Amino acid sequence: MAISKEEISEIRNSVNIADFIGQFVSLRKVGRNFSGLCPFHSEKTPSFNVNPSKGIFKCFGCGKGGSVFDFVMDYRQVGFVQAVKEVAEYAGIVIQLDPAELQVKESPNAKLYEINNQASYLYENYLLITEQGAAARKYLFERGVDERMMKLFNIGLSPDLTNFLYQSLSNKYDSQTLANSGLFNYSNQQAFDVFNNRLMFAIHDQNGQTIGFSGRVWQKDDERPGKYVNTTTTPIFEKSDVLYNLDHAKASVKKSKEVYLMEGFMDVIAAHKAGLQNVVAIMGTALTERHVKTLSFFAKKIILVTDGDKAGQAAIEKSLKVIHNLEVQIVKIPDAQDPDEYAHEHGSEALLNLLENFRMSESEFLMDYLRPMNLDSVVNQLEFLQTMAPILAKERNQDAQTVYMRRLVEILPDFEYNQIEQAVKNTQQNEMKHSGGGYSSDYFPPYPEVPAAYDQDQLFNSGVLQSFTQQKLSRSEMLERQLLQRMIQQPELIARLSTDASVRFQNSDTDALFGALIIEQMTTGTIDPTFFPESLEGHQRELYYDILSLNLPETFSEEELQELLQNFKRESVLSKIEKLSRQGVQAKKEGNQQKELEMAQEIVAMRQQLQRGQI
Ligand code: UTP
Ligand code: MN
Repeated sequence: MAISKEEISEIRNSVNIADFIGQFVSLRKVGRNFSGLCPFHSEKTPSFNVNPSKGIFKCFGCGKGGSVFDFVMDYRQVGFVQAVKEVAEYAGIVIQLDPAELQVKESPNAKLYEINNQASYLYENYLLITEQGAAARKYLFERGVDERMMKLFNIGLSPDLTNFLYQSLSNKYDSQTLANSGLFNYSNQQAFDVFNNRLMFAIHDQNGQTIGFSGRVWQKDDERPGKYVNTTTTPIFEKSDVLYNLDHAKASVKKSKEVYLMEGFMDVIAAHKAGLQNVVAIMGTALTERHVKTLSFFAKKIILVTDGDKAGQAAIEKSLKVIHNLEVQIVKIPDAQDPDEYAHEHGSEALLNLLENFRMSESEFLMDYLRPMNLDSVVNQLEFLQTMAPILAKERNQDAQTVYMRRLVEILPDFEYNQIEQAVKNTQQNEMKHSGGGYSSDYFPPYPEVPAAYDQDQLFNSGVLQSFTQQKLSRSEMLERQLLQRMIQQPELIARLSTDASVRFQNSDTDALFGALIIEQMTTGTIDPTFFPESLEGHQRELYYDILSLNLPETFSEEELQELLQNFKRESVLSKIEKLSRQGVQAKKEGNQQKELEMAQEIVAMRQQLQRGQI
């Protein structure tokens, strides 16, 4: 391996994980930690936590957790070496990498990219150079697309022939590649071009590779069905995942942290002409979580642009539901025009002005969009207030929230400001109630009382024992985890406790992790926060990060350790009592009086020890 362990540790230690993750997830400071909405699962209340002093993240909702490298690996779907490289870049650390380590084996789809790139090249030249292309070029000029833009966006023309492309490419590629390329239809063992006489919009992935096409009819008298025909799904093309122009937009989005999301190719081109580079489009499909995830790697804010007709606005409302971790603004183009039509009529400057200066917030948009036609009746008003209250409650900007509440007062004739404010506050409080929890609140479950006498029925019916299992984590699990955290923080404790016979883990998971810690400490002399977790299996790693995420005071004295050990041992005795009383119940059922008595005696002895404080 070309990167040393020391280098990896240095990289890990030199980035603040909260700053790093903060690039992709908006985080709020909560005590020493940060929390936000988890980027790995869909949620409304934040359960994703980042702890800078420990250098870890942990989602209490979906369980994902780990180091800054794990974050990159999961978030970007890359391998460890690539993740290290990206974090190093962020930290400004230069690392010497063997290129072979980064280069994933040649993609099995390399040939598919190549054939699509080739096709793009042919279509482009057909448009730009040939006689036949002249009329199509004229169509594009009239729509405001000059040659420079045609080249920049790799716009082309497919000839009005049945198998021009096939003839050009079939001798260069194997039949498998040809069949999987999405460029040909097969009928009676014969191949035909999918696209004939269409303006070809090449679709690229974010690295600029051609993955497919969308072909538009362009002649007035062309009455074939489908304004656009798209490449079918292939191993490299999935229409509903496409973010058109992301390859060009990426750099500018990274810089401005904002991305405009539009509905069509021509809209992107119009915005580009108006001077905006950070613009992408989806291909006439619904916005998905996958789109948002991709964008969130580059952007902090999505500006949704719609033509403002009914369908367009309904689409925005749907899009808002899948955007969780990013800020959103909305631009509605007047007169139900799309951005391209607007620019055509009013000029590029006017479009730019609209996109930059006429943005609505989510609340503003929804207040307008969801507003019922008739607000005369109190019932309708109340219903609308109930719809809006949770939306306004989410508004982070206090001033903006006040403005929207005032606006609601104007809209709702029978409600006063303070009633509206109350409604918003109430939902806010409700949300807080539901989002609370996490670990901190059930940290120290009440200490169960030691049963006064050996009475099986009382023991089992009192709820004392049930409460062990019904809680998310039992007291014994909690204490075991706390002790493990201390051992991870101070590896020298491991050796000390591993030889103490009274330190017994009751739960198999924590016991296994204890075992792994002992072995690691024995073999390497320490617990390396970067490498030890990497050596664990998935389930154990999750537990490791769960444990590391426990919100305990960072430093601890010997007295505090003793107290923890004391509780830990008491707990293990209590579990033993529980086990014995179960055996007692069993013995009684079986009519084994002798055994029942033995169990009872042992329990009483243990109880006495506990009460005398001997354990
Ligand atoms: P529009 O119908 O709004 O087209 O579809 P447009 O982008 O404004 O194109 P022009 O201005 O008429 O040339 C929006 C998007 O939906 C997809 C395309 O990706 C298009 O850009 N679409 C539309 C299709 O895939 N197939 C269609 O038949 C129509
Ligand atoms: Mn259009």
